[in-house]
Amino acid sequence: MERKNNSAETILNVDRVQKTYRDQRSLFRKSAITVTALNRVSLEIQKGEVFGLVGASGSGKTTLARLVLRLEEFEAGSIRFHETEIRNLKGRNLRAFRRKVQMIPQDPYQSLNPYLSVQDTLLEPLSIHKIGTRTTRTEIIRESLEAAGLTPAEDFFLSYPHQLSGGQRQRAAIARAMVLKPEFLIADEPTSMLDASISFNIFRLLIDIQKKRQVTFLFITHDLAAARFFCDRIAVIYQGDIVETGTTEKVIQDPQSEYTKALIRAQPKFSFAKTTRPT
Ligand SMILES: Nc1ncnc2c1ncn2[C@@H]1O[C@H](COP(=O)(O)OP(=O)(O)OP(=O)(O)O)[C@@H](O)[C@H]1O
Ligand SMILES: [Mg+2]
Repeated sequence: MERKNNSAETILNVDRVQKTYRDQRSLFRKSAITVTALNRVSLEIQKGEVFGLVGASGSGKTTLARLVLRLEEFEAGSIRFHETEIRNLKGRNLRAFRRKVQMIPQDPYQSLNPYLSVQDTLLEPLSIHKIGTRTTRTEIIRESLEAAGLTPAEDFFLSYPHQLSGGQRQRAAIARAMVLKPEFLIADEPTSMLDASISFNIFRLLIDIQKKRQVTFLFITHDLAAARFFCDRIAVIYQGDIVETGTTEKVIQDPQSEYTKALIRAQPKFSFAKTTRPT
């Protein structure tokens, strides 16, 4: 995909971030067994790009997302959003950051509150961040639902998550992530719970959102074919280490690390024609 922004501006800088967990199996032992989820991980994401983080299960992808969202602490390194170290954010600045950075979850069933209607689901972030008045909020919600392809929006206002199909539920989660007009979106395996044709439509929707709203994406996946379809650049992560970073085509055509090579060999789809992004 062409970059909209020629003068590159770094929106996210992850610098030698280290994150260790205590292995849950060792909670009752004296000497803790630790798991290095991220081992001095560094990456830079430019404003306006779709950056893919690709790796197998357990490689540390969600951990990185959680650190960037400031849902967890980390031991060493730094994460800067624009020029600000997120570790130091407090009060009003932390709230402003939370408004700018949103997440599209893997499983909308778990992330959407089953007791909230779609309208109330989208209202919640607006009231937390004190955005809009009673009337303008309805308008903002309508706009966000329609942008996520839930049209006409009114038909969905009073629906509850269990009344929606899987694809509609993921669209509602996307609408919720978009309602605050974030600058930066983290999509953590956003289609892994959906079947192939619905997941293709969700990709089209994300591409559409990216084009229209100029948001920057961190797209997390284990699927190199999905990354090729969607990402400008990718980083390949293996057991907490970034083993390779580059433009998606460069990494796929000319992989440098043995792990990336193995990942490519494991993708039968690559022996066929290149998947092209819809324009
Ligand atoms: N809260 C936690 N406590 C202990 N270990 C954890 C915790 N969260 C993650 N881990 C461990 O950290 C490592 C990285 O996990 P993470 O969830 O980031 O992987 P992932 O790449 O997102 O995997 P998946 O593709 O399955 O979602 C794994 O070994 C995991 O078991
Ligand atoms: Mg994960």
